[in-house]
Amino acid sequence: MSRKLAAITGVQGYLPEDILTNAQLETMVETSDEWIRTRTGIKQRHILRKEGWGASDMGVEMVKGLLEKPGTAPEEVDLLLCATITGDRVFPDTANTILDKVGAKNAFGYDISAACSGFLYALSTGAKFIESATYQKVIVVGMDVMSSIIDYTDRATCIIFGDGGGAVMLEANEEGPGLQDAVLKADGHGRHYLNMKAGGSLHPATAETVANREHFVYQEGRTVFKHAVNGMTHTVQELLERNELSTDDIDWLVPHQANIRIINSVANALDFPLERVMINIDRYGNTTAGTLPLCLWDYEEKLRKGDKIVLTAFGGGFTWGATYLVWAYDGSAKA
Ligand code: UT7
Repeated sequence: MSRKLAAITGVQGYLPEDILTNAQLETMVETSDEWIRTRTGIKQRHILRKEGWGASDMGVEMVKGLLEKPGTAPEEVDLLLCATITGDRVFPDTANTILDKVGAKNAFGYDISAACSGFLYALSTGAKFIESATYQKVIVVGMDVMSSIIDYTDRATCIIFGDGGGAVMLEANEEGPGLQDAVLKADGHGRHYLNMKAGGSLHPATAETVANREHFVYQEGRTVFKHAVNGMTHTVQELLERNELSTDDIDWLVPHQANIRIINSVANALDFPLERVMINIDRYGNTTAGTLPLCLWDYEEKLRKGDKIVLTAFGGGFTWGATYLVWAYDGSAKA
């Protein structure tokens, strides 16, 4: 019997129905389908436009689907970690709203704010509760409603982001599969290059902050781009080295979906063949904490028990990292 690890035993994604195409963006800002496709790889993104719906409602859909497949009762859930920067409100947290709405009466939860790396941070946190045998069923949600903080008059940001995400169930596994290792990093100096200027305690909302459009994402794209390529490449290298693995040993690389040129640069720097890189940015854009679980959900049916997978992300903070896991089950076609 090997050590007790936290294995992903199910994954469920959620994408809002409404789609925002590049052609539609052409009518909103000075841009072109060609520029967006060649500079970012994005063709369309999903946008949450359902009256009365916030992030928690997307989370509810994810959690319901996750519990339905294996027939798990909501009361069996112990803990839910919600990685998001676009929760329903500044407070209270979104995790406990989801738990209330799905009737998970015996669980507690909390949100984790690490922007695009939120899912990686939350996955490692959730795994510790399983490894220590504190809890048996831990749900990790990664999602964002980026449309709620995007300025649709700013062509530098509005073309990239979309809404959506996914949830995974973590359970104990003592036969090998599960989360093996993670390299997680942060550099708070990065706050200057990717942020939302107002709405927090530093600059509370006023008529002036609203008029100055300070409640939207601000990004210095080129700076973030460079750090993203370096950060993801180096953490994956560090992770592989300390686990005595080469890229040939890894079945799937799952990179944060921010820009196809970033994904290609990372794969190229690692000498990792693109056929084994999960990519869906063309259909969803950058869903921030949602990209990694959405990749796992999209590729679930191709995954086999024992597959070695490396997830990597980079985002606001700056936060970044890479996680190595061994997949625990054979994927089957979605119903
Ligand atoms: O997930 C969180 C982390 N975020 C990221 O990883 C995003 C990282 N950054 C990026 O993906 C890219 O920097 C962007 C997609 C945001 C921008 O692409 P870029 O190739 O870095 O463009 P740029 O900012 O260097 O701008 C190049 C040109 C500029 O025009 P000039 O100054 O050369 O005349 C921009 O004004 O492209 C112009 N431009 C656009 N043109 C048409 C910027 N946005 C657009 C646009 N349509 N939407």
